[in-house]
Amino acid sequence: MADRRRILVTSALPYANGAIHLGHILEHIQTDIFVRFQRLRGHECIYVCADDVHGTAVMLNAESDNLSPEAYTAEITANHIRDFKAFLISHDCYSTTHHAENKSRTEEIYHRLKQAGQVKKASVEQLFDTQKQLFLADRFVTGGCPNCKAPDQYGDNCDACGATYAATDLLNPISKLSNTPPELRSSDHIFFALSNFTDFLKEWTNSGTLHPAVTNKLAEWLDEGLQDWDISRDAPYFGFEIPDEPGKYFYVWMDAPIGYMATFAQYCQANAINFEDYWRPDSECEVHHFIGKDIVNFHALFWPAILKTAQYRTPTHVHAHGFATINGEKMSKSKGTFINAKTYLSELSPEYLRYYYASKLNPGVGDLDLNLEDFVQKSNSDLVGKVANIASRCAGFINKQFDGQIKATTGTPLLAKTQAAATELASLFDATEFSKAMRQIMGLADQANQFIAEQAPWQLIKDPATRDQAEAVCADGLNLFRLLVLYLKPVLPGLAERSESFLNIPPLSWADHAHLLTNHHIKPFTPLIQRIEIDQVNAIVEAERKAYAANNEPQDAGSDTAEPETDSEALIDIDAFNAVELKVARIIEAKAVDGADKLLALRLDVGDHERTVFSGIKAAYSPEDLEGKLTVLVANLKPRTMKFGVSEGMVLAAGPGGENIFLLSPDSGAKPGMTVS
Ligand code: 2FM
Ligand code: ZN
Repeated sequence: MADRRRILVTSALPYANGAIHLGHILEHIQTDIFVRFQRLRGHECIYVCADDVHGTAVMLNAESDNLSPEAYTAEITANHIRDFKAFLISHDCYSTTHHAENKSRTEEIYHRLKQAGQVKKASVEQLFDTQKQLFLADRFVTGGCPNCKAPDQYGDNCDACGATYAATDLLNPISKLSNTPPELRSSDHIFFALSNFTDFLKEWTNSGTLHPAVTNKLAEWLDEGLQDWDISRDAPYFGFEIPDEPGKYFYVWMDAPIGYMATFAQYCQANAINFEDYWRPDSECEVHHFIGKDIVNFHALFWPAILKTAQYRTPTHVHAHGFATINGEKMSKSKGTFINAKTYLSELSPEYLRYYYASKLNPGVGDLDLNLEDFVQKSNSDLVGKVANIASRCAGFINKQFDGQIKATTGTPLLAKTQAAATELASLFDATEFSKAMRQIMGLADQANQFIAEQAPWQLIKDPATRDQAEAVCADGLNLFRLLVLYLKPVLPGLAERSESFLNIPPLSWADHAHLLTNHHIKPFTPLIQRIEIDQVNAIVEAERKAYAANNEPQDAGSDTAEPETDSEALIDIDAFNAVELKVARIIEAKAVDGADKLLALRLDVGDHERTVFSGIKAAYSPEDLEGKLTVLVANLKPRTMKFGVSEGMVLAAGPGGENIFLLSPDSGAKPGMTVS
């Protein structure tokens, strides 16, 4: 092929500190559709990815599992590879950023930055955990927001007011690792002189490499002028030590994008491809990065500046997508909508989700919602009801009545129209306008179904005079089906493979749209895709919800440091709240408990029965003052066996404790046993 493009494609490297979830899968599906489309067109398209294994989070997780970071991440990486394969993601090479190739390439790039005079040193003040003996990354420290004073905010930005700040500005900071107040300490850090690249990046971000929405977002930073970028971290740190800088390590975000190159280099070595063809400054090959919109600064500011300084080419395009949401909300572990790839796969085939995401994806940065009911409905109506239906309607006749032979078509204009759609569909796939492509394909599928319904081969076949017409209509149907499957092949490679097998044809490539099947023998038809049920989706959500509940026994600080992207788990939903049964109770008797400093034993009238509850309010109340009072009982707590007896619930009180504790009392008129709502 004369204009054969040579394209390197990457997805963002997943952190090796947790399982692959539907957020990762969205991005890899988007990338994989692009990649499979390019390959189908006959281009050289190499898709690489790797696990992003460096940094403090991995180091601490490994430590708490008593493993080396290498051993800790090896299993995670193996699981990531398993999950991506199961979702039919066609990486050509999947490596890790701890690979020796990445070490040498990171060192080489660092030397080139130094040689170019773009590396500086400066002293940095940071919070230091004296117990853990390490400098605290922003996510490992919380404190009051310096702007709005909201408590418990992370060291980089405030969830309450949106302010961004340095961790050193937090009010009363506390280390999440040790629960102790950190100390301010300074140390020398190494910087890349990003501030010298503002003009270059203004031009680069406007040169067609980005979606306009991303260009505009970056312009906000560029207009302010860029700061130099801190590329070092102090030991202890899991990463690569910086040459000639003992105790200093490359910041994870320095070696992670170099991981794209290093993984590609590994592929080149194994497949006799010239690495430099792709990466020299004047390369005619293409490099496409697919990422989430939250990391555009790393890919469209730091990365091109580093590449330029190190005398490599810059990316052809950085494709940024929005966040994956479920039922219109951020994925939530407690609601069971933080869905891991493996859990999804335990119930459903990957192709439904591949198609659903394809039907929503476009080049923009808007969030992508997986509405679970719509997902079931769309999978059944489009994939089963529209596409597979064409084949099942026609193949039965061809197999049973016409000896499995597709002879000739009727020559309906719909065939030529469906063939001609290839040109526009190719432009849409190339521009990552997948939702538009899916709409067009389903429009053609509707027309195919309508054509078959109008021709009604099941009627034609009954009359010997129109039997040939029935045969030709079924040949039309199978040809239309074959074209639709070809166009859907980047999205549904499994369906395509099963269809190729029953149509008895070699793997379809894009150019095959130009001809039709005639005088061709097909194989017996087997169902291509099954309907899905909402129960299967509910089972996925329920499995995640249960897994979360089981793992969410009270945890010590720092145990959740691995997942900065989790939602606010402090919030409970209305169902959880409604599950708590609150009742009005009258204190019939209150008395001190022998041997207990803080407790009073309360005998409660709850309307239809009595209960005993131990309550830590002794310092605030004399027993006799409580007798006759109304209060609020948590009535459905499991009874708790204490040293002094069994406590059958809990009464509600406000305040910090000790003498300052105030029993909650309903207003007069409330009666024992009434439900509190
Ligand atoms: O945000 C993330 O999940 C990072 N691990 C992505 C790294 S992409 C690249 F630069 F390596
Ligand atoms: Zn704030």
